[in-house]
Amino acid sequence: MLIKWEGLWKAFGPKRIFEGLDLEIRRGETLTIIGGSGSGKSVMLKCLIGLLYPDRGHIWFEGGDVTTYGEKEIREVRKRVAMVFQGAALFDSLTVGENIAYPLREHMRELSEADITARVAKNLKMVNLPGIEQMRPSDLSGGMRKRVGLARAIAIEPEVILYDEPTTGLDPISTKVIDELIVSMKHQLGCTSIVVTHDMDSAFRVSDRMAMLAKRKIVASGTVEEMQASTNPDVRAFFDARKS
Ligand SMILES: Nc1ncnc2c1ncn2[C@@H]1O[C@H](COP(=O)(O)OP(=O)(O)O)[C@@H](O)[C@H]1O
Ligand SMILES: [Mg+2]
Repeated sequence: MLIKWEGLWKAFGPKRIFEGLDLEIRRGETLTIIGGSGSGKSVMLKCLIGLLYPDRGHIWFEGGDVTTYGEKEIREVRKRVAMVFQGAALFDSLTVGENIAYPLREHMRELSEADITARVAKNLKMVNLPGIEQMRPSDLSGGMRKRVGLARAIAIEPEVILYDEPTTGLDPISTKVIDELIVSMKHQLGCTSIVVTHDMDSAFRVSDRMAMLAKRKIVASGTVEEMQASTNPDVRAFFDARKS
């Protein structure tokens, strides 16, 4: 077990988000979190990297409880756990290459300019966008922007990648490209991946396991086959609503 949310409670004022949420992630697996809009999927990820703090409970990352960490320790966590943000917020004022170099300059100050240039080129190749360093994010399609966001996230060679709705707003072909990249990152980097998605076809393609967030906790988890066969009413309702 690499990551574990344990007995997590979180509210924003009167709005209760988690009431005793538990989930474990194993090293090297790709786990997809599904659940309705506003159920707290992004909040789960944000708590893991210290962007939000729970009211109660623990989040274990390799034996340490990140809910007790200060700024310095959280920085160390963020070197190892990269988040591909919802909407891939690239800096439009920077070139693609400068966008990918940004976390390298911030987290790996020992790298030379030549090292940075080489790593940027390598990461663009890994997302099948070689040679676009000089382009501006505003010149790219939605799917390409997401891939640049991924290249930026993997620049620091993270052990864990968090994908928050990586295919939202993409057409089916771009969605498939991103799904294939998620699977290929796992094989190229040997990383652990947590994917938040609405898209069941994507979830079925990329997941080793899936977990369903509903009623302020994880109500079911298992392999794709186990989830498809699940009799849990929340899982059934979620799947049936998305059958085409
Ligand atoms: N920083 C915040 N302050 C107040 N409310 C928030 C904050 N972040 C999220 N929320 C609320 O928490 C709920 C869960 O949000 P979120 O995790 O973004 O849902 P989703 O499952 O769609 O990712 C939403 O109702 C959202 O409005
Ligand atoms: Mg979200």
